[in-house]
Amino acid sequence: MAAVDLRQAARDHLWLHFTRMGGGEPPIIVRGDGCYLEDIEGNRYLDALAGLFAVQVGYSYGEEMGQAALAQMRELPFYTNWSYAHPRAIELAHEVAQLAPGDLNRVFFVSGGSEAVESAWKLARQYHLARGERRWKAVSRRLAYHGTTMGALSINGIAALRAPFEPLVPDVIHVRNTNRYHRPREESEGQFTAFLLDDLEQAILQEGPETVAMVIMEPVQNAGGSFTPPARYWRGVREICDRYGILLCADEVITGFGRLGAWFGSELYDIRPDLITSAKGLSSAYASIGAVIAADDVVEPFLSETSMYAHGITFGGHPVQCAIALKNIEIMKRERVVENVRDNGDAFRATLAQLLDLPIVGDLRGTGFFYALELVKDKETRESFADDECETLLRGFLSPRLFEKGLICRADDRGDPVVQISPPLIATQREFDQITSILGEVLSEAWQRVR
Ligand SMILES: Cc1ncc(COP(=O)(O)O)c(C=O)c1O
Repeated sequence: MAAVDLRQAARDHLWLHFTRMGGGEPPIIVRGDGCYLEDIEGNRYLDALAGLFAVQVGYSYGEEMGQAALAQMRELPFYTNWSYAHPRAIELAHEVAQLAPGDLNRVFFVSGGSEAVESAWKLARQYHLARGERRWKAVSRRLAYHGTTMGALSINGIAALRAPFEPLVPDVIHVRNTNRYHRPREESEGQFTAFLLDDLEQAILQEGPETVAMVIMEPVQNAGGSFTPPARYWRGVREICDRYGILLCADEVITGFGRLGAWFGSELYDIRPDLITSAKGLSSAYASIGAVIAADDVVEPFLSETSMYAHGITFGGHPVQCAIALKNIEIMKRERVVENVRDNGDAFRATLAQLLDLPIVGDLRGTGFFYALELVKDKETRESFADDECETLLRGFLSPRLFEKGLICRADDRGDPVVQISPPLIATQREFDQITSILGEVLSEAWQRVR
């Protein structure tokens, strides 16, 4: 279609996700290379959001991934994982089990992150049932995003996302996240950890531990702006789960496959989860595939002759998607993509830290290639912007202005206003500098406006 027809057809027929439909013409992205994208007008953008935290290897591997997909199409375009195996699903399960930490050895494939979260919750419920206990509740953290299907949506800690779809799936308990920026300044890291763990344990006790099936948390929480865990937090969460017989699920849909400088965040923080949910980076988003990775103990009740996990989806473990994910992992290893994050995360952070000199930037959080800047009205008091100010500042000005200047990143106000920065994992100092320079310019302009 010609550009003009594409625009008209988009207006007439395409329903965008999480997008205000009356909010003007959507950009039409037509191609990508490396860390960069190009729109239909020929403008180039540095994708500092990696296509929603997903395109680990960047946009230049279409040919190689395509050849892997083509070979698989020729050999076996589709078969299902319902009762049958096929070579690519087996090979990918083997590969993922090798990369996953500890005894997380069993892999259940799905089509994306929401399905992974949904499947983890169902698996946790059925795991307890198989052991003679009826436990159904999930615990997650406030503001955390875990997906949009009804189960995953219920787990979300973002009240505004849940509200239109209530009543939701029973029952989810939301506990404190690890946002330290707005805690009292005199509070030590150890005190903060103790405060968070007490909150988690009290919430579980209040609900009745015998009803709680699963605690689900991201190694570093995205929504709210890259909340890293304080020291000893994960050890404490693990201990609480063990004390009450609750399964711990690390939602690694974003943090898995290298974003934090390790294959999994669970490895970086020694989380020792019973379950990992993953998607996005598993295929660098070249295919729609996700996975639940389960530890040996979780699988054990399902291994007898007559038991089964009563859950499945047609496309889970689709051979073409598996072939692409296998190729992605091969590329990530060959190009030392995870090592690039590990070796350059500090340099990236140091470059972004220059922005802390700006009056509007209150905090820089994150690790690896996963950062957020929190924007404040007053650095001294850490006062945040009001809702209407967020509307004009973030939606009205920042997002479109950054895009105009050639930078895709996300201005997010699901919690306090933050700018999220999460480029492809192949980014180098050149991209760090470009991101920092454009952000510096646009955030300075934003400050002039709000003053
Ligand atoms: C932590 C986390 N879990 C789950 C999801 C849902 O993934 P999907 O959009 O692939 O359904 C997301 C999506 O961003 C996520 O960030």
